[in-house]
Amino acid sequence: MTKLWGGRFVEHAEEWVDEFGASIGFDKELVEEDIEGSLAHVSMLKKTNILAGEEAQKIIEGLTKLKEKAKNGQLQFSVALEDIHLNIEKMLIDEIGPVGGKLHTGRSRNDQVATDMHLYLRKQVKEILDAIATLQDVLLRKAEEEQETLIPGYTHLQRAQPISFGHHLMAYFWMLERDYARFQESLKRINLSPLGAGALAGTTFPIDRHYSAELLGFGGIYENSLDAVSDRDFILEFLSDSSILMTHLSRFCEELILWSSQEFQFIEMDDRFATGSSIMPQKKNPDMAELIRGKTGRVYGNLFGLLTVLKGTPLAYNKDMQEDKEGMFDTVKTVKGSLKIFAGMIETMAVKREQMQKAVSQDFSNATELADYLATKGMPFREAHEVVGKLVLYCIQHHKFLLDLSIEEFKEASTLFEDDIYTMLEPRKVVERRNSAGGTGFKQVSAAIEKAKKIMEGK
Ligand code: ARG
Repeated sequence: MTKLWGGRFVEHAEEWVDEFGASIGFDKELVEEDIEGSLAHVSMLKKTNILAGEEAQKIIEGLTKLKEKAKNGQLQFSVALEDIHLNIEKMLIDEIGPVGGKLHTGRSRNDQVATDMHLYLRKQVKEILDAIATLQDVLLRKAEEEQETLIPGYTHLQRAQPISFGHHLMAYFWMLERDYARFQESLKRINLSPLGAGALAGTTFPIDRHYSAELLGFGGIYENSLDAVSDRDFILEFLSDSSILMTHLSRFCEELILWSSQEFQFIEMDDRFATGSSIMPQKKNPDMAELIRGKTGRVYGNLFGLLTVLKGTPLAYNKDMQEDKEGMFDTVKTVKGSLKIFAGMIETMAVKREQMQKAVSQDFSNATELADYLATKGMPFREAHEVVGKLVLYCIQHHKFLLDLSIEEFKEASTLFEDDIYTMLEPRKVVERRNSAGGTGFKQVSAAIEKAKKIMEGK
């Protein structure tokens, strides 16, 4: 097939070389954005009288037809035509005749591809924002149900202090809130028009970049034509925001996996989000959580892939930049899929409240209370820490927990202990009393849930 850029060439590349260079296999994903961008471009050419009204109209009609066909999946792409841009241009010429060749006036594939990707990411980021909000809603509801459920809180994966399970869930709500803000903020930079930057230097035609930008709903235009065609920061930013989001989901997955193990038994995944083993009949595996944890790796990989592609490229466009797409598409798919599965997992998981309660009643996670108690009565905290440490050791040696000790045993450790120590050591009291701002005290958790609800109402 003759190339749309074939004039300067004598020989043709062989098919297998074309295949290596082609991006149509993946950039066909941009078909709708490509047509949308072209429609704005030709409308601008019409408005500025660069193209005669009649010609522009013909092109608009042709593109509109192609758009319809694209929606219905009726377009046949060809590898020989390299990428989505040349495929669409050829289809247009086939559809309306040589006048279709006027579409590319004052434009290059370099500003065209950048425009397509800005349009694509804008749409996808908005969908991701909605998906984050949906997961936040699910978390919020679950947290509200589990405000008064106690669960051991850990540091170093060792029991630390009991906390409200709702408080634990809300920790992820706030992480997601930051993710939401990051993606939203990134829209400012995604929503900029590179269209009209030409190949790198602008164009001699009296184009109106603001007009085409406005037609495409962009908030502004790139100030510099070189930057416009070379910038892939907006994709890097998307990939980093996605990496951070996936880190959050992955940490949460790790906890869900631990909690659903025989060793913890704090939750049970719904059958719809778990799988069995082909050999061990008793197994119920938290596959979906593991998979999200695993897929986090490919999102990081996509970020590093693009960072590496870009680091050595001089201005302006280089073919290396064609490598920006697959990682972006893959990340979009992975992030959307993970968020959706996550919401389902959280919504349907069974919380084993008794198991959690049992756990917090059979550990030393109330030991801090004793030290605080002594400190309130005037003993320096360091000293109190030592006294309680000894008491814990005594308990371990005598197979007891703190609440099993008699008042005599307490007094043996320090005469400051009184009978009221028993209520203080109740796990529920332990949680309730952590009423400092942002703490796990029930009042704080409920206030945080109310605050979060207000935030969600504004979305
Ligand atoms: N398929 C190319 C890409 O994705 C489009 C831009 C091509 N520009 C060029 N000058 N070869 O990067």
